[in-house]
Amino acid sequence: MQQPVALEHASRLVNHGPTVLVTTAHGGRRNVMAAAWSMPVEFTPPRIAVVVDKATLTRELLVASGHFALCLPTPALADLCLAVGSDSGRDGDKFARHGVAATPGPVLGLPWIEGCSAWLELRRLPEPHAEQAYDTVFGEVVAAAADPRVFAGGRWSFRDDNADLHTLHHLGGGQFAVPSRVVQARR
Ligand SMILES: Cc1cc2nc3c(=O)[nH]c(=O)nc-3n(C[C@H](O)[C@H](O)[C@H](O)COP(=O)(O)O)c2cc1C
Repeated sequence: MQQPVALEHASRLVNHGPTVLVTTAHGGRRNVMAAAWSMPVEFTPPRIAVVVDKATLTRELLVASGHFALCLPTPALADLCLAVGSDSGRDGDKFARHGVAATPGPVLGLPWIEGCSAWLELRRLPEPHAEQAYDTVFGEVVAAAADPRVFAGGRWSFRDDNADLHTLHHLGGGQFAVPSRVVQARR
């Protein structure tokens, strides 16, 4: 289930540090990899930084096309996350190999992976120094959507009754935490 998210709320989708699936496409090739390291860096226009190793096919397609997408996997996709974070698209199409179902994003047509809880499409903002020194790429969000059962009105709502839509937070060694308990601070 996908509902558009206003661009002014897009940074909230990754504010809490979820693991993302980075998708790319260029010249008839498409790819997907896992990334635990991403963060918002600007509200308006909404901009996000992601660490994408120079050696990856993702980085090659991202730079060549100037675009990428981020999809936020749910617990049912934990195995997929580990799989696409462990092999390379250089060895064959990972969508076919891992049976990944995706639909085209609304602005750039990049793969938005089914079964996720949120999706973003981004245009690369070239930052040669950061890309070389830290493997960090920056993107401006041009489209965003989320499953309204877990993100609505510009806010995540993590509850027991929507646990299958919670985001994954990488602990290392193939383990992920999910936001099972939310604390409401009072003024
Ligand atoms: C859970 C998880 C998180 C990862 N996070 C990152 C990350 O933040 N940055 C990165 O460059 N690689 C990260 N990786 C490794 C890439 O996903 C991996 O190098 C991948 O095989 C690259 O695929 P590609 O060559 O098809 O693009 C992660 C792997 C896993 C399993």
